[in-house]
Amino acid sequence: MTTPSQQPSQTPKPGSQPAEQTYAAASDDVDVTAISPVSDDEQRPEVPAADPFGPEVEAEAQELASRYPQARSALLPMLHLVQSVQGYVSQEGIAFCARQLDLTEAEVSAVATFYTMYKRRPCGQHLVSVCTNTLCAVLGGDDIYKRLSEHLGEDGKPLGHEETAGEPGEVGSITLEHAECLAACDLGPVLQVNYEYFDNQTPESAVELVDALRRGEKPQPTRGAPLTDFRSVERQLAGFFPEEEDVFRSDVDAPSQAVETLRGAQLAADRGWTAPVMPENAPLPEVEAK
Ligand code: FES
Repeated sequence: MTTPSQQPSQTPKPGSQPAEQTYAAASDDVDVTAISPVSDDEQRPEVPAADPFGPEVEAEAQELASRYPQARSALLPMLHLVQSVQGYVSQEGIAFCARQLDLTEAEVSAVATFYTMYKRRPCGQHLVSVCTNTLCAVLGGDDIYKRLSEHLGEDGKPLGHEETAGEPGEVGSITLEHAECLAACDLGPVLQVNYEYFDNQTPESAVELVDALRRGEKPQPTRGAPLTDFRSVERQLAGFFPEEEDVFRSDVDAPSQAVETLRGAQLAADRGWTAPVMPENAPLPEVEAK
């Protein structure tokens, strides 16, 4: 589920400021950091950076583009492909998508910064998303997030939203984030690891879970597919799966229904509760022409 990104919280100082002290630069935005002025003694010799997106990734990007009548429709999966390579959407990744789809970098940036599933800073091996939306929050989601951010922080400083404990990408590294409703309210408070569900959590069970992840273990989610890691899941979200049927099934298949959800459905059926039916030929509301 995707929602618009959160805004940085720093307040700008009045008047002109060097780039590092502006509102945007203070937010650790990688785009802005990349254009911060570099002093003479910090300048490095011009060495062409290795292209992280070689011919293989380019071929996959073109395959994605060919899956749609309009190539630009492939932008969302292509951004996931970029994340599967680098663990986030870098400025290079933005430029790569723009080249593949004949879009401007501004158009790609506008999409990449709108959805929270596209990360603008390198992610850990695992992405831990704690639901702090209303129902989970009152059931203990806020406590879980607070405990995890303190537990994963360093030197008495709690880990912040979308910050990473450990070296991004290395085994056991964890990026923590607040999440909006994860569509499992009957199982709250819930959290996800790489978008797989861990239901009915407590602060203690959540700490045990992240400790296991930090040891390099991959605990079984409450339901759904087995845990892999953030980049592997990004590859699946891009639409690439193993060709062998057995491997494919073991990657993505597992019982997904929850007892609580089934009980709710049974209760509704027993009591004759149904969702309101849309009347046939109901007139559509008028939409004012712009
Ligand atoms: S409020 Fe947490 S899953 Fe809906």
